Amino acid sequence: MNTSRLAPLRPQHLVILGGTGFVGTQLLPRLVAHGHRISVLSRNREQHRALAVLPGVTVHSADVYDRGVLLAHLRGADAAINLVGILNETGSARFRKAHVDLTATLVAACREAGVRRLHQMSSLRAGEGKSMYLITRGEAERVVRASGLQWTIYRPSVIFGRGDGLVSRFAALLRQLPVLPLARPHSKLAPVAVENVCAAIAQCVASPASIAQTYELYGPELLELIRIVRMICAAAGLRRLILPLPDTLGYLQARIGELLPGKPISVDNFKSLALDSIGQSDGLAALGIAPQRFSARLPELLHPQHGHAALLDAARRVSGLAPADRPRLAP
Ligand SMILES: NC(=O)c1ccc[n+]([C@@H]2O[C@H](COP(=O)([O-])OP(=O)(O)OC[C@H]3O[C@@H](n4cnc5c(N)ncnc54)[C@H](OP(=O)(O)O)[C@@H]3O)[C@@H](O)[C@H]2O)c1
Repeated sequence: MNTSRLAPLRPQHLVILGGTGFVGTQLLPRLVAHGHRISVLSRNREQHRALAVLPGVTVHSADVYDRGVLLAHLRGADAAINLVGILNETGSARFRKAHVDLTATLVAACREAGVRRLHQMSSLRAGEGKSMYLITRGEAERVVRASGLQWTIYRPSVIFGRGDGLVSRFAALLRQLPVLPLARPHSKLAPVAVENVCAAIAQCVASPASIAQTYELYGPELLELIRIVRMICAAAGLRRLILPLPDTLGYLQARIGELLPGKPISVDNFKSLALDSIGQSDGLAALGIAPQRFSARLPELLHPQHGHAALLDAARRVSGLAPADRPRLAP
């Protein structure tokens, strides 16, 4: 089914949770280009002032776990987009709270506010295996499917693009370490471009044909983790030993990794990598979106234009404005 032909471009008022992250910051310019008005709810808007340069985007500081707060922002909106997700539990951030409780609260607030449309970010293999990340993703999907709302669920494989957690993270590790011991080296991934993921969401926002659909979003290359790391190493011009670890040592590495700053790997990551991040039903093809290849984009990702510069570029592209003059934080 190619829903692109069905897409009526009616500008909407969208409320986005988790819109300040890697995916969100690249989704926003695309939604703005479609003429949508967007409220981004963030735990700390001051850290994301740059987003307010996008025309029609307002960033609000909000406790996204508070139903009353969500209700106030959702009244009068056309749709909610939930991009909140965590890969590791740190501080007060817990998988069940961030994935399941937040989703349930958002569903309740949408229903009370009369917002009928919900776009929910999830993950390939949600609800499978032993990782709490995937288990709680699955629980959140069940909440969404039982919500009575007009929902769409997105299940990406690992996402690559400017500022991702894949290329930049491994490139940094490879630059620091002469030898990189690698847990779950033969785990298979089908990296999907952030531009493709954002195109899918933007298209579904405009298309009623996407209601009650779950889109698996994955790229055309099926790669073992060790192959990805070797590709990053070669593209960065580095000569490093990448040491595949058997599961006993990989688990030990994950235990130690949990104690290190930034948690380079955790036991839950190790458990989620037990499942290949591959899909069964090609959501990009269903939406008529041409997938980008990880291998083709890799050189550019190692020399990215980051943060404000990239955002200002996007703002210029969609609006022709002089973005730096247009801060728009909510009062
Ligand atoms: N990146 C990938 O490879 C990948 C693959 C599959 C699925 N996904 C999913 O896609 C979504 C977006 O991914 P991303 O890479 O853009 O994530 P991200 O960069 O980590 O951004 C997620 C946003 O969620 C908010 N957030 C983070 N921790 C939170 C917490 N404990 N409670 C409430 N809000 C919190 C943050 O917004 P504020 O700080 O402004 O509040 C953050 O900007 C996530 O649900 C992720 O799990 C990502």
